Amino acid sequence: MIKKCLFPAAGYGTRFLPATKAMPKEMLTLVNKPLIQYGVEEALAAGITGMAIVTGRGKRAIEDHFDISYELEHQIAGTSKEKALADIRHIIDVCTFSYTRQIEMKGLGHAILTGETLVGDEPFAVILADDYCVAEPDPVLLQMVRLYEQHKCSIVAIEEVPREETFKYGVIGGEEESEGVFRINQMVEKPDPADAPSNLAIIGRYILTPDIFDILRSTPPGRNGELQITDALMTQAAEGRVLGYRFKGRRFDCGSVEGFVQATNHCYENYYKAG
Ligand code: UTP
Repeated sequence: MIKKCLFPAAGYGTRFLPATKAMPKEMLTLVNKPLIQYGVEEALAAGITGMAIVTGRGKRAIEDHFDISYELEHQIAGTSKEKALADIRHIIDVCTFSYTRQIEMKGLGHAILTGETLVGDEPFAVILADDYCVAEPDPVLLQMVRLYEQHKCSIVAIEEVPREETFKYGVIGGEEESEGVFRINQMVEKPDPADAPSNLAIIGRYILTPDIFDILRSTPPGRNGELQITDALMTQAAEGRVLGYRFKGRRFDCGSVEGFVQATNHCYENYYKAG
């Protein structure tokens, strides 16, 4: 059973400057809910209640968000405004939150390794909150947890992207074992379209087995001098222990302004306006 979900949330979010100068990217809102809350809700829907968040300098708003705000809540108690906090109050009641700081931003692999102290020696999920996913009826992470129960190995969520955009992603190569499930034998970080093994890109949902931590420790820095999770996963993949899962649903890249605006419109039309 997967009990913990790790949220690497230490990145600088430079694509959203100046908005992210003093505010974490993960606290940017799709209409009225911060990105990281959507991620936490997805983890909860997958049966996970232990939220492990890797933060960094200037990210304290995340901790405050998943806490009680006595003064505010006292002010609106008994008014119609109270219901706006119902979802977050439920999250605070049923989940536990733990935090650690990544001192230097040395890449996603390094952020995940920093989270070891929160996760321990058990399989865990990873959500990159800037990839906002919608899927009906089962959220993407729940689909992946079900697959993990069958295979008990690391799983990365993948989606087809236009060939010319492979340079933005980790891209996999492998054999399709069953509908949408690939046994990965290749992983390339941000390849030029000509060098990409496929157009199947890794997006921000993972299930990882805990041996990944030892592998990360002995993986040298890769592209851009950063510790890449794809390089570490390649060690597992060489032993046939990584699946790529083409999830059912839609992903918005909220790390880019264009994807963020599309996700905002989606949430406004489908949830906010619809009540
Ligand atoms: P990104 O590649 O989107 O980087 O990180 P970023 O710094 O957040 O944003 P830009 O590119 O400057 O606009 C992908 C995910 O990995 C986390 C980020 O917080 C984000 O969720 N991350 C990345 C870390 O936690 N630590 C790192 O050192 C790097």
